[in-house]
Amino acid sequence: MKKINICFVCLGNICRSPMAEFILKDKLKKENISNIIVESRGISNEEEGNFIYPKALKTLEKHHIFVDKHKAKQITTEDINKFDYIICMEEFQVEALKRLFKTNIIKKLQPYDIEDPWYTNNFEKVYDEINDGCNKIIKKIKSIS
Ligand code: 4NP
Repeated sequence: MKKINICFVCLGNICRSPMAEFILKDKLKKENISNIIVESRGISNEEEGNFIYPKALKTLEKHHIFVDKHKAKQITTEDINKFDYIICMEEFQVEALKRLFKTNIIKKLQPYDIEDPWYTNNFEKVYDEINDGCNKIIKKIKSIS
């Protein structure tokens, strides 16, 4: 089966995009889908090398999501060639990447923006919105395979 590379993108790559990465990996494992590779990146390099933010980790653990190694990374030009889909949390990330890379592989996880929990502190809401978005991805994958 063809491998599909998915990359989630947020601002810092320590809250939303790693949450999406581990939530989707959990669902793929439960569905026995092995041809989808999931990673995550940030638009900014401010958190480069950092592990997932403690409150994001706590939220995932509460929902029994396995969290693997993580080191925050800024998205690069090579990543644009590496991934089949780049799935952003907010419109501003979509616009920033489209301006830079002019590509139609850049999407948004939800039709609305998933707000930055770094500022809202609402990690549970972020979890619910990302979880719902990942359910839609699973549904899409199942419909095309
Ligand atoms: P994220 O959250 O984009 O969901 O990883 C943020 C993490 C760090 C910062 C902003 C947002 N920051 O400004 O350092």
